[in-house]
Amino acid sequence: MQRPIKKAIFPVAGLGTRFLPATKAMPKEMLTVVDRPLIQIAVDEAREAGIEHFIFVTGRNKSVIEDHFDKQYELESTLRKRGKSVELEILEQDLPAAGQTSFTRQQEPLGLGHAIWCARNIVGDEPFAVLLPDMVMHAKPGCLGQMIATYNERGGGNVIAVEKVGLDQVHRYGVVGAKDWRGNGFTIDRMVEKPRAEDAPSNLIISGRYILQPEVFDEIQAQTPGAGGEIQITDAMIRLMARQPFHGLAYEGTTYDCGDKLGFLAANVAYGLERDDLGPEFRTVLQKIISEHGGRVTWKGE
Ligand code: G1P
Repeated sequence: MQRPIKKAIFPVAGLGTRFLPATKAMPKEMLTVVDRPLIQIAVDEAREAGIEHFIFVTGRNKSVIEDHFDKQYELESTLRKRGKSVELEILEQDLPAAGQTSFTRQQEPLGLGHAIWCARNIVGDEPFAVLLPDMVMHAKPGCLGQMIATYNERGGGNVIAVEKVGLDQVHRYGVVGAKDWRGNGFTIDRMVEKPRAEDAPSNLIISGRYILQPEVFDEIQAQTPGAGGEIQITDAMIRLMARQPFHGLAYEGTTYDCGDKLGFLAANVAYGLERDDLGPEFRTVLQKIISEHGGRVTWKGE
């Protein structure tokens, strides 16, 4: 019987330089899609998938994230006094229970693999999930929930969610090679971090959700810096592939890369349009803007 996935790591130490000046004093993970911070969207996805322990790997200037997952007594008492019960309920629902969050720091920006490794003692000897909050997965059920179903069907191992992109985009991501497709799942037989289009094994990118076995920590520890001088999680997974299965899942949904301005804007449009309270009016406003600007809305991969 495969061991259940109860812990998730959220690497949130990155500087967010692509969003300056917005991220000068505020962590990029607090940027919002409509009214929900990116980090909250990722935590919601993890909770829906049954995660019980949320581990944030933070850095300097990220204390707002810790505050976000705490009670705000002053705010709550003001809302209560003003009879704002809907807002109070939202705050309550969003909050993980006491003791379900842990925060640890990545002291130096040594790469995503290193950030994940910083959480090793909190994770301990059990399989875990990793969610990169920049990557917003618009899916029902959520992407991690779909991955856990695959994990259970396949009897454990490691699982990576992938998304199809145009070949001109692959150089920005990790890319996998796929064989033995069954439904929307497959076996990963190769991985390359940020390949040139001509070297990419496919157009399936590692989209920012992982289920990993704890042995990956040893692989990270043994590692020297890879692409971009960083300790890459992809390099550790490539080594682990020699002794453990890696399953790919072309999950049902759409990835919005909110580490990128275009993806961030697209996510806001997509989430805004589907909101009951905003969607119809927002559609009218958008149509007006587009017709006035004579522009065409396009999105990568379309
Ligand atoms: C990281 C991973 C890469 C993955 C990407 C998704 O890259 O190394 O494999 O495709 O996240 O966002 P980074 O965005 O840290 O450069």
